[in-house]
Amino acid sequence: MTVTDRMTNPGAALQPISKLRCIGCGAVRQSSSKDFRCLDCGDLFEVFYTGWKAAGGETVDALDAAATRELWRQRLGSRLPMDESGVWRFREVLPALGERHQPITLREGKTPLYELPSCARITGVQQLYAKHQGMNPTGSFKDTGMTVAASFARQEGFRWVACASTGNTSASMAAYAARGGMRSLVLIPEGKISWGKLSQSLDYGAVTCQLSTDFDGCMRVLNQVVQRMPVYLLNSVNPFRIEGQKTAAIELLEQFDWRVPDHVIVPGGNLGNSSALGKAFLEMRELGFISRLPKLSVIQAEGANPLVRSIRENGGARLIPMQAETLATAIRIGDPASWKKALRVIKATGGAVEQVSEVEIALAKAEIGADGIGCEPASAVTLAGLKKLVKQGFVKPVESVVLVLTGHLLKDPEFTLKFHRGDLFSGTSHEAEASVLSTHQRAPIVLDATVDAVLKTLEQAEKA
Ligand code: F0G
Repeated sequence: MTVTDRMTNPGAALQPISKLRCIGCGAVRQSSSKDFRCLDCGDLFEVFYTGWKAAGGETVDALDAAATRELWRQRLGSRLPMDESGVWRFREVLPALGERHQPITLREGKTPLYELPSCARITGVQQLYAKHQGMNPTGSFKDTGMTVAASFARQEGFRWVACASTGNTSASMAAYAARGGMRSLVLIPEGKISWGKLSQSLDYGAVTCQLSTDFDGCMRVLNQVVQRMPVYLLNSVNPFRIEGQKTAAIELLEQFDWRVPDHVIVPGGNLGNSSALGKAFLEMRELGFISRLPKLSVIQAEGANPLVRSIRENGGARLIPMQAETLATAIRIGDPASWKKALRVIKATGGAVEQVSEVEIALAKAEIGADGIGCEPASAVTLAGLKKLVKQGFVKPVESVVLVLTGHLLKDPEFTLKFHRGDLFSGTSHEAEASVLSTHQRAPIVLDATVDAVLKTLEQAEKA
């Protein structure tokens, strides 16, 4: 088959051949199974590609970048479910499902890249963009990884899938399990996830357990459960999740017409997403789709900053786990599973790590909102972190910057309402610092139901 054949016949693509490799000792494993940690050294596995199989059966060891880019572009006009998915559209760089298996897809991916003019003025960075992963079917970036990992769970015949979660993974997993005819088990920290996220997993039919512990505690319990029962783990230690999440970076490059932004900034929680985006950039360079790398920087909340602390205190030689606390509950994680993978891509791309305060997060979220774009608190750490990286001179005003917004505003409306009512920090140690937020607060105005009352309010707003 020639490159031209593949371009005119989008179905007849090259099929990737992949294996799993331990990131610690390099041990290689043939196919997927339940264990995502190496039996020899305990480190995590990652997917790597050894070649591509053409329709005629011959194997090639590289992709033709120009032809593949064109193939991906052509699929945008296709009605096949696999092509309508903004993840499986890039299937040449994803593990291949068996011939008789279809992916479980909610048409994830295909998320917008927005300019942020008002945030650009605030930071002094003229070319500032948001890649809004909150515009996925369940409202967060998790869907891009879930479509891949859930499809492999079904292919392997699992009846049950499970995750520990701060809310978004569980919402996504429950949805994909339901679509794929599987049952799902969710372990969440009691009282520490938003109602929006919790309600999603309930509606999608998950068995939802609130445990009296934090995310890290839920993870510890779940690791035992999956050892004892035939339950497939869908946390981001699952390397198939990482592969799906990679596609956001590929789609971003495509949206930039394959020019490479100077910086990509991402929130850090369990550190799967930063690992995934970095892996994509490295693979795209290795395959010749791009010739240089963006610097990938990771931002954590000050109260949930194990990666920042570990890098500052021991150069990242070992992780210093902690008891995490932040109102950005999505990233309230003290013992991130994928820290080694994340550290590797931060180093390989020349990125930075930074931490931001609770008030800085709340302010940044309102500033993103003022650009007409809603995100959840965890996503806003990116803008708060960017301000610091600009101040330090790490990001130059002439450079192009992409903030990865990971979750939708409606995921956590309670945070937003408390912010605007001025209640977010009342009675806390952040109260004094929070005075900077007042100009951004817009509490609902309670009025008599009269035209005059509304007109008077309008006049006052005009003068303000
Ligand atoms: N942003 C949002 C909105 C998230 O939900 C998460 C993680 C992150 C950022 C951090 O990504 O863990 O890959 O570094 N949420 C997980 C969950 C932990 O259970 O929903 P990460």
